[in-house]
Amino acid sequence: MTHRVALLPGDGVGPEVIAEARRAVDALGLSLEWTELPWGSAHLHAHGRMMPADALETLETHDAILMGAIGDPSVPDHISLWGVVLEIRQRLDLWANVRPARLLEGVPCPLAGRTPTDVDMLFVRENTEGEYSGIGGRAHQGLASEVAVESSVFTRQGVERVLRYAFELAAGRRGVLTSATKSNASRYGYVLWDEVADEVAAEYTGVRYERVLVDALAARMVRDPAGLDVVVASNLFGDILTDLAAAIQGGMGMAASANLAPGSGRPGLFEPVHGSAPDIAGRGVANPAGAIWSAVLMLEHLGETGAARTLLTALEDVCREGPRTRDLGGSAGTAEVGEAVAARLR
Ligand code: IPM
Ligand code: MN
Repeated sequence: MTHRVALLPGDGVGPEVIAEARRAVDALGLSLEWTELPWGSAHLHAHGRMMPADALETLETHDAILMGAIGDPSVPDHISLWGVVLEIRQRLDLWANVRPARLLEGVPCPLAGRTPTDVDMLFVRENTEGEYSGIGGRAHQGLASEVAVESSVFTRQGVERVLRYAFELAAGRRGVLTSATKSNASRYGYVLWDEVADEVAAEYTGVRYERVLVDALAARMVRDPAGLDVVVASNLFGDILTDLAAAIQGGMGMAASANLAPGSGRPGLFEPVHGSAPDIAGRGVANPAGAIWSAVLMLEHLGETGAARTLLTALEDVCREGPRTRDLGGSAGTAEVGEAVAARLR
């Protein structure tokens, strides 16, 4: 069976890193067909919208979506992001955002004395509700009495499915699940989150479950990352914690993500976490590792477990032996690193 993959290079460094992810996947020689979709900020300027009106229908005819990044200084972020990535997450109901934060050999860690054995965390971020529900409004704009309201939404169903998925993943790893909460200050949303977590935890007796306030968890990630295995968090907490996790694993250029609707058959969306990085766009210096790692997660989603392992090993080898991009202390460009990964696969 041929896998159909929608390719959204997007804005900024997106096209540069996605080209390398594609080159690496192509080198694996799988039966895979790409549909390149030129959506993003340039599409907005040319056609008045970030992606076409039937974009979701187009994506649904694919098995997976590999995306670079969205965001350009010429478009307000809340327009560009609600026009593509947040829209896709919500409309395809991609409720789990899975982000491995593992320090690879050869990648410098900003935490003194930490080595790859200390940093192997897996973040599961709720991806459709919480603080990203998009519910709110503004009134009296421009007046002194101006008001903006933004509501967090937590549903029992939404919370339960992501917690259950995180418990499953923890059961298949080192058996520790840390739930990020803030139920000391929050009176409703995170209180529900904790109650549901307690209920689900009772079913997973083989997993050690702990509830940690998100502020304390941020400190713990820095002080003792080795004590963390799977971390489950709400949408906003997961967003913030995974930038911290990315820094601990060697920088934003290393971080990969999978947006999934487990068990649904809907296409997953795979993207590096670094964003469009307009400051370095077009210079061929962006680190393609996060995009290539995202392609690894995509291959797992497509059921190509062996190919995923092979690609991850090639990426690990290149991180250990070089070439490396400048963010990792090397001097290589994006394509040189991508070609080094692909060369190990041919
Ligand atoms: C991420 C990004 C997005 C998010 C932005 C670009 C909307 O920061 O994927 O982590 O906040 O989810
Ligand atoms: Mn983020």
